[in-house]
Amino acid sequence: MSRTPIIAGNWKMFKTVSESTAFVQDVKGKAEVAGVESVICAPFTNLPALVEAVKGTSIKIGAQNMHFEDNGAFTGEISGIMLKDLGVEYVILGHSERRAYFAESDEIVNKKMHAAFKHGLTPIVCVGEKLEEREAGQTKDVCKVQTEAAFQGLSAEQATKVVIAYEPIWAIGTGKSSTAADANEVISYIRELVKGLYGEQVANAVRIQYGGSVKPENVQEYMGQSDIDGALVGGASLQPASYIALVEGAK
Ligand code: 13P
Repeated sequence: MSRTPIIAGNWKMFKTVSESTAFVQDVKGKAEVAGVESVICAPFTNLPALVEAVKGTSIKIGAQNMHFEDNGAFTGEISGIMLKDLGVEYVILGHSERRAYFAESDEIVNKKMHAAFKHGLTPIVCVGEKLEEREAGQTKDVCKVQTEAAFQGLSAEQATKVVIAYEPIWAIGTGKSSTAADANEVISYIRELVKGLYGEQVANAVRIQYGGSVKPENVQEYMGQSDIDGALVGGASLQPASYIALVEGAK
């Protein structure tokens, strides 16, 4: 079973509209490699301009969060309907920064997964352990709880489309990346969990990224592993040259 590698840039809270469109001008035709999917996940404010800027390219646009309700009295929130209406295709859900700073629970992440599918958005759902949990030998337990909760109630057809990002929290923005072998071990385990839930066919089709201090210098090492299908990249996705190198490195 061959899975299309997927590189997604998570810009977090960086870039203005003009910086975003300038970025696309710089990466157009370069961060477009046959057989690799390239997705830019940007702040909400930049999404309309980015959707417009990538027209005619193979680059796709994602959001970094969304609310699970379609609309309502939720001051400051953005819904799946709104994202879909803009032409956004992906949405990151359950990023550890959202779990840590905005109290997103596994239950909320699951509601958002259902909302994403309701509106035809592809979720990139993040799971991963804290440093204390790794040191206590709980990495797999944490990933099991988060993965099973995220997939709760999804059909096999939906599950196949999900992109999972395994992001050990201690490796995010720290320059301390997981070794490729360690990341592959956890990612293989997550694939086993999906197999337990949906069977072999879905498990073989689902794409699982590694995230945490990925850069052009180490992306190939991750991509060389049996179960790693791409990367979710923060810091190194912000500069055009670096983003291009990441997409090229995922081939
Ligand atoms: P860094 O690539 O900056 O470590 O961030 C990883 C991340 O959180 C991507 O979602």
